[in-house]
Amino acid sequence: MGTKSALVQTERVYDVPTRYREVVLTVSKKEILVGLLVNIWRSIPEGIRFPLLRLVQRNKPVNRWLMFRHAEMKDRANGKWDHLPPTEMRYRVGGSPDAEEFVKIGKTCANDIQAALQQVGRDLSSFDRILDFGCGCGRTLMHMKELAPNSQFDGIDIDAKAIAWCERNLNFANFSLSKETPPIDYPPNTFDCIYVISVFTHLDEDYQFRWLEELQRIAKPGALVVLTVNAAKNGQGFFFERSYEEGLFPVWYQNTYHSSDYVFENFGKYFEVLKHLPRSMNAHQDVVVLRKR
Ligand SMILES: C[S@@+](CC[C@H](N)C(=O)[O-])C[C@H]1O[C@@H](n2cnc3c(N)ncnc32)[C@H](O)[C@@H]1O
Repeated sequence: MGTKSALVQTERVYDVPTRYREVVLTVSKKEILVGLLVNIWRSIPEGIRFPLLRLVQRNKPVNRWLMFRHAEMKDRANGKWDHLPPTEMRYRVGGSPDAEEFVKIGKTCANDIQAALQQVGRDLSSFDRILDFGCGCGRTLMHMKELAPNSQFDGIDIDAKAIAWCERNLNFANFSLSKETPPIDYPPNTFDCIYVISVFTHLDEDYQFRWLEELQRIAKPGALVVLTVNAAKNGQGFFFERSYEEGLFPVWYQNTYHSSDYVFENFGKYFEVLKHLPRSMNAHQDVVVLRKR
């Protein structure tokens, strides 16, 4: 007993000053850098400083860059988000680099897919092979294994960086790269469930019909497809709007809106439309449940 407490005391004596010195050094380096930046900023005349700030705010790429670095600092301070994709990838699927939001929305989407399937009497775990079409960096897919532990999952997207991240980090699923237009590399009648979250919300009518035909080809007879659309806009059945941020996606990728009548009439040419559920994906997009005839 006596020897043990003597040892502890010796450790304390040497430990504290060493750690203390490390802390002092780290803080002072950071302080020097911050002080330098503040001095440079102050040396700029006020008349130039504020127009400069406004210019940075208006420049979307610079603004985005600053937003990503800020989110990374938050992640590092939080210390529990190492398993998530980088901030830029998170932003591309949801318009926000925030880690908590990314996890929360992904979980909600997974549960909302399950809820939509249950409305037609099915459970995710009852499918053998499930495709996440337009999986991005796996925001929804990363929560799916819990809901269907024995199903085989595939993910596909046109975003090569996101697919590479998924391949490295989500080892329960198979991933492949998609193309702007069909076909993709799956044989006919491959999947008994396909879900498509916030992809048909970005395609023009021509691409939409081509992809509906392709999804019909790779779905097994009787397969279910859960797909989301934005609710109708401007009183039109289908409304296409050039509104997406430049430089973030290809030019054909914009925003679209669908009425329920339009979905029943047009999606019904490719699949049987079982349900149209307003605002049922993350309380935002409409959910459409389709069945291959
Ligand atoms: C708004 S994000 C949603 C991503 C994911 N579904 C989610 O909910 O997190 C839309 C995704 O669709 C993908 N996408 C667009 N066109 C595609 C296509 N032809 N084939 C596969 N993915 C596509 C985009 O690259 C992007 O990752």
